[in-house]
Amino acid sequence: MTAVLGTTGLILNEPLLWEKGKPGRRGFSLPPRDVEISPLGESLISQGPDFPDLSEVDVVRHFTRLSTWNFGVDTGTYPLGSCTMKYNPKINDKHAALPGFAGAHPLLPQELSQGLLRLMLELERMLAEITGMDAVTLQPAAGAQGELTGMLLIHAYHKSRGRKPSKILVPDTAHGTNPASAALCGYRPVSVASNEHGILSVESVAKAMDEDTAGIMITNPNTLGLFEENLKEIVDLVHTRGGLVYGDGANMNAVLGIMDVACTGIDVLHLNLHKTFSTPHGGGGPGAGPVCVRKHLEPFLPVPRVVEKEGRYEFSCNFPQTIGKLHAFYGNVGVLIRAYSYIRTLGAANLKKASQLAVLNANYIKERLKATFHLPYDRPCMHECVFTDRNQAGAKVMTLDMAKRLMDYGFHPPTIYFPLVVNGAIMIEPTETESKDDLDRLVDALQAIAEEANNNPEQLHQAPTKTKVRRLDETAAARKPCLAG
Ligand SMILES: Cc1ncc(COP(=O)(O)O)c(C=O)c1O
Repeated sequence: MTAVLGTTGLILNEPLLWEKGKPGRRGFSLPPRDVEISPLGESLISQGPDFPDLSEVDVVRHFTRLSTWNFGVDTGTYPLGSCTMKYNPKINDKHAALPGFAGAHPLLPQELSQGLLRLMLELERMLAEITGMDAVTLQPAAGAQGELTGMLLIHAYHKSRGRKPSKILVPDTAHGTNPASAALCGYRPVSVASNEHGILSVESVAKAMDEDTAGIMITNPNTLGLFEENLKEIVDLVHTRGGLVYGDGANMNAVLGIMDVACTGIDVLHLNLHKTFSTPHGGGGPGAGPVCVRKHLEPFLPVPRVVEKEGRYEFSCNFPQTIGKLHAFYGNVGVLIRAYSYIRTLGAANLKKASQLAVLNANYIKERLKATFHLPYDRPCMHECVFTDRNQAGAKVMTLDMAKRLMDYGFHPPTIYFPLVVNGAIMIEPTETESKDDLDRLVDALQAIAEEANNNPEQLHQAPTKTKVRRLDETAAARKPCLAG
């Protein structure tokens, strides 16, 4: 590895720390000893683990060099549809790192964590106000866990009325986690086809909705980036037939301050804080998928709940119909603080503006690219738009080739091959954080790639060529993962 160091320009190579270490190097210096030597007990003396000896600069450069192999929201435009990778204002991190928050132990007595408990209750109230719903739990650790929570709430509601329906309707445009969460809760997900406009029709839901159906999961705006225009009629129909409506509010970033969810009649809704409220996006790290409910589902919410009594805040488990505990302690607090900070720093008017800009940006991309890429649903979109590779098929260039090539232009690829109802989907979500200049750069890059598809398709089949890791055999990578360095 060392032999090739420096031969790849700024695509930096980097050996393992074990290869880099040299006996005797130190990353620290201690002050001279000013106490008597005290011999260690036998059990504490051993060779210790085989860690490499490294200097401070070895370690700093190692991790900094590794970080250059990756692309993040702080690096540039990250148009990943459905996952909503948006830039997170640093003030949110600063607030979450305040010593009173960052240093609070989950087992701290409640008298010593009044500020944190108050923040949680205020965040619940803000999310309730934003959605129009009546009560909120902050416990679920991700959107998917929010969905599971919602399913458990629906199950508990039916059970309390002596009902045991076995099915849940899920549109074919839904995120894969929807049917999975329903199944995890013991329901049988039944797929409902979207219509030629990419949305649900009242008729298709009416056909599927029977006595044995607990309800429906509806994502609005849906994963095609389209507003479910028949939402109110569908909700009324499901209610008339004894079902409840689960709203997947992961795409709430398109309708903040614009849509009152409770007015549509939706009974339970989850939010993805990492999509809508600008908290860091998973990557295996902590997330949060709060669940908002209307009055009739409140008794079933998870415990403990934060309650206020005479100006003091405390946890209460005194909710006899609760579905129980969903997460250790009270959810992923650091993420919740960031969302609180985002909401407080923006305020109501700017939250609405964030949604308006997200929708404007997506429509701008759609209009600028629709002459180049096939647009299956040519109508105003919400926060994201979906193209396909149909126009490039003649040159034998596929969505995957174009997505890979985008990396050579310095952009993260968009979401591809999702939603499943669109063949060769290219789903772009610019988010509200991108300027017109950045959107134009992305459009220019995609147009240049479409030209290359016609003139030099082989270049696209080889892409990416300017990244640390070149085109992978993705099947082999999945089947025979190489997990060692
Ligand atoms: C529409 C929709 N629903 C649910 C989810 C699941 O959220 P999470 O990834 O936090 O589990 C996502 C993920 O981005 C989503 O886009």
